[in-house]
Amino acid sequence: MRLLVAGSSGIDPLTELDEAALFAAYAPPSPARGHGDHVEPGWLRCNMVTSLDGAATGADGMTGSINNAADRAVFDVLRASSHAVVVGAGTIRAEGYVPLSVPATLVGLRRGRGLPDALPLVVISHRGEVPPTLRGRRDGSVLMATPENAPGLSRTRDDLGDSNVLVCGDGSLDLHALIGQLHDRGLTQLLTEGGPSLLGSFIAAGLVDELCYTVAPHLVGGEHPRTVGADGIPAALELTLLVEQDSTVMGRWSVLRQTTGD
Ligand SMILES: NC(=O)c1ccc[n+]([C@@H]2O[C@H](COP(=O)([O-])OP(=O)(O)OC[C@H]3O[C@@H](n4cnc5c(N)ncnc54)[C@H](OP(=O)(O)O)[C@@H]3O)[C@@H](O)[C@H]2O)c1
Repeated sequence: MRLLVAGSSGIDPLTELDEAALFAAYAPPSPARGHGDHVEPGWLRCNMVTSLDGAATGADGMTGSINNAADRAVFDVLRASSHAVVVGAGTIRAEGYVPLSVPATLVGLRRGRGLPDALPLVVISHRGEVPPTLRGRRDGSVLMATPENAPGLSRTRDDLGDSNVLVCGDGSLDLHALIGQLHDRGLTQLLTEGGPSLLGSFIAAGLVDELCYTVAPHLVGGEHPRTVGADGIPAALELTLLVEQDSTVMGRWSVLRQTTGD
């Protein structure tokens, strides 16, 4: 993988990056910055892939038809750099997520940064229903975040165990409360993997520190979802890293500020 824009990585541009160098290039800032006016010891970044014409899925409604090995390499590095991965229940249902593990080649790098081997998957659901592929996981590998009035709350408590259910807010899911509860558990380096509805609501809540985007060399055409759903509001970003492999471009953009309502 070739480094195009080095940002603050300290690596020379046009360097070929191996997996360890890519892991270093995607390191969260240290010490991590906080959200808005509140200095918190956390970092929240959101990873998405888009086709060149802006589609968040291929023609089959899945991301598998637009992503590729280059995207997968960054995807794995981002997971390996995180305490937990936060995903909307719609994406888990569509993509058939199972509990996560860090690829063997990245485990040593992850340990070297002081991160534990476990990588919990945090499911975000308004309804509070555990997606079929994650049912019965009571070992802490799956956490469910849902509001107090979720219709599925008591079934989810029975299924995952009380300690693996995060009740966040009442009528709607309070994302600030969610981040607070994850931080209380020591899960401060957070990654979201979508989907668009989830990303839109995190952006609207002003909680996103960084976007990691892959632009895949495909045109999809037609009507397909974009990467940021309906709740998303305009925001200004700053490019901090750009890498390329096989005509696929991957970058890091820091969220500077939202451009409406301020
Ligand atoms: N291009 C990419 O990088 C990328 C990444 C991920 C997914 N995708 C694609 O995007 C599509 C799914 O899109 P989507 O927007 O429906 O995905 P999504 O955000 O994962 O799913 C929406 C569902 O997740 C839950 N949810 C999301 N945000 C919530 C919030 N703020 N509060 C409470 N619940 C919340 C709700 O679940 P309940 O219905 O259980 O209440 C909601 O119905 C799939 O085709 C997937 O393949 C693309």
